[in-house]
Amino acid sequence: MGYISVQQALDKKRGTVALRGWVYRESKLKDKIFIVLRDSTNIVQCVIKKNKVTEKEWVAASKLLIESSVVLEGSLKEDKRAPTGYEVEVSKLQVISYAEPFPITKEINEALLLDRRHLWIRSRKMTAILKIRSTVFGAIHEFFRARGFYEFQSPIIIPGGAEEGPTLFEIKYFDKKAYLTQTWQLYAESAIFALEKIYTIAPSFRAEKSKTARHLTEYWHAEMELPWVDLNGLIDYAEKLIRHIVKRVLENNQKEMEILNRDVKKLKPILTKSFARITYDDALKLLKKNFNIAIPWGKDLRTIEEDKLSRLFDTPVFVTHYPKEIMAFYKPRDPKNPRVALCFDLIGPEGHGELIGGSIRDLDIEELKRSLKSKGEKIEDYSYYLDTRRYGSVPHGGFGMGVERVVKWLCDLATIKDAIAFPRTPERFRP
Ligand code: 4AD
Ligand code: MG
Repeated sequence: MGYISVQQALDKKRGTVALRGWVYRESKLKDKIFIVLRDSTNIVQCVIKKNKVTEKEWVAASKLLIESSVVLEGSLKEDKRAPTGYEVEVSKLQVISYAEPFPITKEINEALLLDRRHLWIRSRKMTAILKIRSTVFGAIHEFFRARGFYEFQSPIIIPGGAEEGPTLFEIKYFDKKAYLTQTWQLYAESAIFALEKIYTIAPSFRAEKSKTARHLTEYWHAEMELPWVDLNGLIDYAEKLIRHIVKRVLENNQKEMEILNRDVKKLKPILTKSFARITYDDALKLLKKNFNIAIPWGKDLRTIEEDKLSRLFDTPVFVTHYPKEIMAFYKPRDPKNPRVALCFDLIGPEGHGELIGGSIRDLDIEELKRSLKSKGEKIEDYSYYLDTRRYGSVPHGGFGMGVERVVKWLCDLATIKDAIAFPRTPERFRP
């Protein structure tokens, strides 16, 4: 008999089924053993009755612990008391591998759970998140490819930074120092001259020491870059990208959202409503008016302010035109107001913080050099970058989206650590 998945069995609703998977739960009575069988698709209750299987099978069943792997055959029927509404009465059972007592129980603390992450990713919660994450990756590729973007890869090992220097990871590169990339951006700015519209999804690294619910030291960064674009054009791409991701997740991951108890009503406005676009100045005014938070002009918005701001909207909100001085060196002054830069952040709803950061790129070599110097950078390290302004420079821009930030928001997770299978944080790089 051909094996089917647990979900296919549930969809079949009745009849003989052959399944394989892992023991999710077990309880043993005198003449009946219940196991809940799990595979990647779902769970289903199975009952092994002493008088319906061989002596050998009964003995095997009585030794089953959580996460033992089994293949079985039986007859499936509706049973309202069972966790997914169906039960399989087992007629054939083969144990593939007996599990040792599973080292994850309800009482486990967070540190141990992270130590045993390789086992914890089998949980229904993590499995649901990882499926949603897979949808998000697929949706990003789909979005950009449908719009004529090429996928372009930049190096991970780099000679110097782009974002803040202190968050660069230094590595030993034979007898020299090198760094792990924080962004593909500076290479992307070279590549648009060949390919024009490009995107990537790749790991980025940030040596952020702070323990927060939204920072990883290694995260997946979806970035795009293109020529002949202005700030509003760039923001349009960001808005449509987020809408496309939400659309795909709502289409494909209803079951997972249920497992996570995610209130999907909160995501629905994304599909139909335009996202608010406010300036940094507007943001300061809104914070003052609604929360009596006074931020001196020129200070960046912190987590707490972003969170407050997000409560005023039921979609993500774009904040544009931040003060030039606190921005990365490549963000240009707005010709209409040189104190601010042509840039934006997209702040996620429900207090999930910055999802995307992007900008138009500065084309003025002298201004770029001044900004680099004022940030303590060596101009020589950026000569390849400045060449992009020397040989047929064109207006261009791009943005970067933290994929785990997006997953954290979509799943409404308390911590970004759960948005990735094996999180890297200041205090942890194993398993
Ligand atoms: O705002 P950031 O630093 O922007 C850049 O790196 C630009 N060079 C992107 C570009 O224009 N191509 O980072 C972009 C996004 C943030 O909005 C955030 O979602 C995510 O990357 N991010 C992090 N995600 C997880 N952990 C961290 N430590 C992150 N730092 C940034
Ligand atoms: Mg940013």
